[in-house]
Amino acid sequence: MPPYLIGIDVGTTGSKAVLIDADGTVKASITNEYPMYTPYPAWSEQDPSDWWTATIASIRQALEKAEVSAQQVAGVGLTGQMHGLVALDAQGQVLRRCIMWNDQRTAPQCATITRQVGIQNLLRWTGNPVLPGFTAPKILWVRENEPEVYRRIAKVLLPKDYVRYCLTGGFFSDVSDASGTSLFDVGQRRWSEDMLKALDIPREWLPEVTESPVVSARINAAAARLTGLLEGTPVVGGGGDNAAANVGVGVIREGVVSVSLGTSGVVFAASDTYRVEPEGKLHAFCHAVPGMWHLMGVMLSAAGSFRWFRDALGDTEMAQASETGQDVYDILTEKAAQVPAGCEGLLFLPYLTGERTPYPDPDARGVFFGLSLRHRKPHLTRAVLEGVSYGLRDSLELMKNLGLPIQQIIALGGGARSTLWRQILADVFNMGLVTVNVTEGAPYGAALLAGVGAGVYQDVATACQTVVRVSGETGVGAATSVYADYYPRYRALYAALAPEFKALAEVVARHAGSA
Ligand code: XUL
Repeated sequence: MPPYLIGIDVGTTGSKAVLIDADGTVKASITNEYPMYTPYPAWSEQDPSDWWTATIASIRQALEKAEVSAQQVAGVGLTGQMHGLVALDAQGQVLRRCIMWNDQRTAPQCATITRQVGIQNLLRWTGNPVLPGFTAPKILWVRENEPEVYRRIAKVLLPKDYVRYCLTGGFFSDVSDASGTSLFDVGQRRWSEDMLKALDIPREWLPEVTESPVVSARINAAAARLTGLLEGTPVVGGGGDNAAANVGVGVIREGVVSVSLGTSGVVFAASDTYRVEPEGKLHAFCHAVPGMWHLMGVMLSAAGSFRWFRDALGDTEMAQASETGQDVYDILTEKAAQVPAGCEGLLFLPYLTGERTPYPDPDARGVFFGLSLRHRKPHLTRAVLEGVSYGLRDSLELMKNLGLPIQQIIALGGGARSTLWRQILADVFNMGLVTVNVTEGAPYGAALLAGVGAGVYQDVATACQTVVRVSGETGVGAATSVYADYYPRYRALYAALAPEFKALAEVVARHAGSA
């Protein structure tokens, strides 16, 4: 009986179940969506019971679609949005909605922690500065703002680990997801006693942590009835969404890096050793591969910048697309491809929603710089693609500065479907890119991790060798020398504008709500 594997992604927009066979062929990929709540502008919350309901549906529908019986499922792997705070009481009941990774309310708590603990201790104990998205400042926010909730907390879980609790009754996390809590000693791969003590957070609140491909718990009877899975099916540790996605595309060796053009842009590098950027500008997290770490740079608006451009200035192209059935992005990039590299002196800063890497600055904003009478819409389009590419290069440069070798770059995500954008990336990086056959993202990697835990593959490397293939290559083109001249100009702009971004934010805040 051939073994099948299921990966489940408790994502930002929905719960996705991917069911694969041992060769890596996708037999079913099902997503059930759920809402995100924004009760105040900077808040993002979700209801954990929505994740569970959607996950049940996705598993059931995946089994049905693939026509696979529960007996044939060798293992389940979990992945999901990182950093979210799920607080449970002593009976395992959810105490409040999850405060999500993209929630920005905790800036004051981050400042307090950084002042109290000191940036050097933070880097020494957790490998990272405390950022508003991370989990620990959210716990402090609840302590300060919802004391009645705080008093009843008995367990704190990350989103995918709450779904594991529903599936198995077990309280577990994995090293890669735990890395984003600000409570985890990333170098030692265990909870940081120092941080727990400094923040006065009880150790008993936190789940046990396993390596990602290790079986942590098994499907229980109640979950078996709801999902159609077999009681006793192993569930592995799994991984945070970026770690799992990168297992899924084979970024499991030092020297291999992925660049992902989703709404946000992520530069992800596997590392054999634990490396920390001296100012904490790159996330330093455990990889979902035992004994490995990863470095990560996150740009908040990558393909998101291009979508903004389409929405703000692409009315004509959108009308043309709906008339002809063409893709609106294809129409925009076809015209942008006619413009010379460097856009005749036009630069774009992609900080539309502030930035994380390399400038953790919520006040930074998008900029077109260098406009002249010659510039037309295709110049602006191309400048957006180039600006995002320069910004991603910033993360690569930080990695190179840490002595990390970069031998292969894999381009991922919706934006990487554009030939023009891939070419711009290769030229801005002055390094060729490859694309791979796997396009299912994080749940695919989680399924591979399940395969390792269930003994279908000997280890993560064998799993990746079995299923991942290079599907395309983009070489470095002539424009690379043009971009070499423009990149320093791009770099200089943030430094020049940073005080003005702050001053502008103050003006905006002063006039918010006024006519
Ligand atoms: C990683 C991060 C996001 C979330 C949601 O640090 O914030 O990737 O995991 O996808």
